[in-house]
Amino acid sequence: MVLPPSQRLWVGMLVVLVVTELPEALQKCIFDEVQAQARVVRAAPKHPDGPPNERRLRAQADQEPPLTSGQQTNPPGRRASPLRGLTVTQTRSLRKMAAPASPQPIRIRTWTPTESNNLSEAEKEKLEAAVEEAVRMVSSLLSVSRVEGPLLLRRDINKYCKFLWRNSSIANYNRCGRANHNYRTERCLDVTIPDDHLAGCDIYTEADSPRRTELRPGGAGLPSTDYLLYLHVQATDKCRAEPNVLAYAAHCQTDTRGRPVAGVVVICRDGLSGATYSHQATVQTVIHELFHALGFSKDLFHTWRDCSSNSQVGAGCSPRGKVTHSDGSAQVRIYTPSVISALQRHLASADPELGGPLENLHAPSGGVSSHWESRLLQGSIMAAVLGDSTTVRIDRVTLAALQDTGWYTVDLSRAQSLVWGDGAGAMFGSLATCRNKSSAFFCTGSGFGCHYLHLHKGECQTDQYLEGCRVYKPLKNESECWKEGNGREEDWSGEIFGFHSRCFFSNLTRQNRSEVLLSGSSVEGRCYRHRCSGANRYQVQVSGSEWVDCTAGDTIQIKGYQGLVHCPDGRLCLYADITPPSDLVPTFPASNASDPPETLPSAQSWSPLRPPAELTAASALCVTAAACLLAAAAAAACLLAAAVCVSYRKCCSCRVRIHSAPEDHTDL
Ligand SMILES: *[C@@H]1O[C@H](CO)[C@@H](O)[C@H](O)[C@H]1NC(C)=O
Ligand SMILES: *[C@@H]1O[C@H](CO)[C@@H](O)[C@H](O)[C@H]1NC(C)=O
Ligand SMILES: *[C@@H]1O[C@H](CO)[C@@H](O)[C@H](O)[C@H]1NC(C)=O
Ligand SMILES: *[C@@H]1O[C@H](CO)[C@@H](O)[C@H](O)[C@H]1NC(C)=O
Ligand SMILES: *[C@@H]1O[C@H](CO)[C@@H](O)[C@H](O)[C@H]1NC(C)=O
Ligand SMILES: *[C@@H]1O[C@H](CO)[C@@H](O)[C@H](O)[C@H]1NC(C)=O
Ligand SMILES: *[C@@H]1O[C@H](CO)[C@@H](O)[C@H](O)[C@H]1NC(C)=O
Ligand SMILES: [Zn+2]
Repeated sequence: MVLPPSQRLWVGMLVVLVVTELPEALQKCIFDEVQAQARVVRAAPKHPDGPPNERRLRAQADQEPPLTSGQQTNPPGRRASPLRGLTVTQTRSLRKMAAPASPQPIRIRTWTPTESNNLSEAEKEKLEAAVEEAVRMVSSLLSVSRVEGPLLLRRDINKYCKFLWRNSSIANYNRCGRANHNYRTERCLDVTIPDDHLAGCDIYTEADSPRRTELRPGGAGLPSTDYLLYLHVQATDKCRAEPNVLAYAAHCQTDTRGRPVAGVVVICRDGLSGATYSHQATVQTVIHELFHALGFSKDLFHTWRDCSSNSQVGAGCSPRGKVTHSDGSAQVRIYTPSVISALQRHLASADPELGGPLENLHAPSGGVSSHWESRLLQGSIMAAVLGDSTTVRIDRVTLAALQDTGWYTVDLSRAQSLVWGDGAGAMFGSLATCRNKSSAFFCTGSGFGCHYLHLHKGECQTDQYLEGCRVYKPLKNESECWKEGNGREEDWSGEIFGFHSRCFFSNLTRQNRSEVLLSGSSVEGRCYRHRCSGANRYQVQVSGSEWVDCTAGDTIQIKGYQGLVHCPDGRLCLYADITPPSDLVPTFPASNASDPPETLPSAQSWSPLRPPAELTAASALCVTAAACLLAAAAAAACLLAAAVCVSYRKCCSCRVRIHSAPEDHTDL
C-alpha cells in the first residue's frame, strides 16, 4: 500500500458490476455491452495443444511465436505445497497426473495505470483492500497451468501492420511486410498497455528473407503472472451514463489455448466515495467482474475446452464447440458436464435438461447472456442481480462453469451453499410453477414476510428479471434481523434484533395490546432470536419469553402472546455458512441464555470461502510484491470489521428479453 502509485502491482481480478442503493432502481451490469467493444487479441492455437484440425479462433494472422508460454509445464519440484489447499480426492487425482505442471493457484497481477491515481488515500485503501481480497479469493479457487517465465502480451498485428504476407508458400507467410506508421500502442479497453508488458514486433520486407527490422522492441513482461488485470479507477463516460454502475470489465487477450490472460476492470470512482460504500459488496463486485473476464462470458463460451480425457488442465484438450442450447421451454442453458451435474445436485434431480440457465433479459431472442437466470439461481455471484452482500454466494454451479472452461482446475468443495432452490426439483423457478403456491421460495401478492435466507425481513416483489415471479426482497431499511439497533420501541410484536436473530413469519401480539387483539394481526416477517439444537432443529425466543422448540414446518404459540410463529423448514440450522457478516460477532450477548448450544455452527463466523491459511501463504509467496500484499490483507481485515453492508446491488446485461415482464402481478 506504500508503493509509489505508478508502480503499484498487486494480485487482482476483474468484474463488471453495478451497485444500487435503491432496490427498485435496477442496475445494469454492462459487461456484455463493454466486452463487445473491447478488441481481443487472440493467440493462434499451437498444434501440440490440440487436435491438428483445431480451428483458428479468429481469422487473424497472428502467427507470430506465442508470446505467453503458459503452456509449458512447471519444474517438477514446484508442485508440492499448493496441493495442500485441495481436497483429498483432488490431491489423489493430481498425483495420478503426468509429472509436469500440476495446476497451481492462479497468480493474478493487478496493474493500475497512472491516470487512475487521482484518488484520496481513503479511496485507495478501500479499493486495494477490496481488490486484494477478491483476488486472493479467486486465486484460492482457481488453479491453472502456470505461465512459465514472464507474461508478455502480444501486439495486434492488424494494428501495427499495413501489409501482411498472404502467400502460404513463402517463408514469411503471415508475417508483417510493411508497418502501419500510424501505429502507436495497444489498449485494453480504456487502458493503454505499457510497452514493458508487450512483446516486440518486426517487419519482414522481403517475402522469403529472414531479414527483419524491429518495429518495437520487446518489453520485460511480468514475472510470476498468469493473469494481468488492468485496474482502472475513473469516472468514465460509461460510469456517468449509467448511474449506479459500480464497475465493468472486459478480457483483452487470450493465449493459444483460448484462456484469457489479460483483462481490465474499470471501477467507477463514485462507487468508492459514497457513504453507503460496502467493502464486502465491492469484493463481490470485483469477483463477479473477474469471473466474467476469466471466462464466464458469452464471447468465450464457444471457446471453452473439454479436458476430461486429459489429466492436465489446458493440455491436450479439445474444443467443446457450442455449449449453449435452448431447452424445451426456450430457456437458453449451458450444457457442459460439471455445470449439469452441479445443477442436478443442487435441485436434487437427474433431469438431463438441467444445464446452467442463462438470463434472457436484454438478450436477443434465443440469445445468450453472461449471467445466470435469476429465477433459478438467485443469490449466485453470477446472477444478473446482486443483492445485499450477505445474500450473495460463490456457488457450486458458477464454479462448475469455470471448471468447464477447461482453463482452470476449480476446488468445487469450497463453494458456498446456495439455499435458493436447494433440492427443489427440475421444475424449480419455471414460469409455470413460480406463480402458484407450490414453491416455498416464491411468494404471491405484495405482503411482508421473510427473505428466503431468513436474515432479513422482506416484502413480496418482482423485478424485470423475475418475469412476473415474486420473491421476498429485503426491506429498504431496518430489514436485517441480525443488526442490533434495528427495530423500534414497540415491543407488542415481541421482536428481538441481534446477531442470533432471524426472520420468522409471525402474527404474535402481546396479550395486553387489546386494540391489536380485537382486530387481529396479519402474518408478516418478524425478528426473533434462534438457537440451533440440530440439523433443521432450533428453538425460538421472543421478547420476554422462554426458549421454545420450533418444529420445522410447524407453527408455535408463545406464552404471553396471541397469534402464531411459523417455523421455517429447511432454512435454519442447516447451512453453516449462512450467517450475518462475521465481523458482527455479538459484543453484547442479550442474555446468558442466548448462547446457542454448539451443535451446529449456524450462527458462527465460519465461511468455507476463506482461503486456507497454507494456500494464502503459498500464493502470496508467488507474488513479487508479497510485502505489499500482506499489508493490504491487514487493511482488508480492518475494513471488514467496519463493514456493514446495506446497499442493494444489481447487475444486469443489456439486451432485449424474450418474455416481457408485466410490471405488476399483485393478483397472482
Ligand atoms: C483529480 O481530482 C481533482 C479533484 O478531485 C480534479 O479536479 C482533477 O481533474 C482530477 N484529475 C484527473 C486527471 O482526473
Ligand atoms: C505464391 O508464391 C509462390 C512462390 O513464390 C508463387 O509461385 C505463387 O505464384 C504465389 N501465389 C500467389 C497467389 O501469389
Ligand atoms: C402449480 O403449477 C404446477 C405446474 O404447472 C401444477 O402442476 C400445479 O398443479 C400448480 N398448483 C396450483 C395450486 O395451481
Ligand atoms: C425507512 O426509512 C424511511 C426514511 O428514512 C422512513 O420514512 C421509513 O419509516 C423507514 N421504514 C422502516 C420500515 O423503518
Ligand atoms: C400486561 O399489562 C399488565 C398491566 O396492564 C402488566 O402488569 C403486565 O406486565 C403486562 N403483561 C405483559 C406481558 O406485558
Ligand atoms: C394469526 O394467524 C393465524 C393464521 O396463520 C390466524 O389463524 C390467527 O387468528 C392469527 N392470530 C392473530 C392474533 O391475529
Ligand atoms: C451468566 O449467568 C451466570 C449465572 O447465572 C453469571 O454468573 C454470569 O455472570 C452471567 N454471564 C453473563 C455474561 O451475563
Ligand atoms: Zn455481470
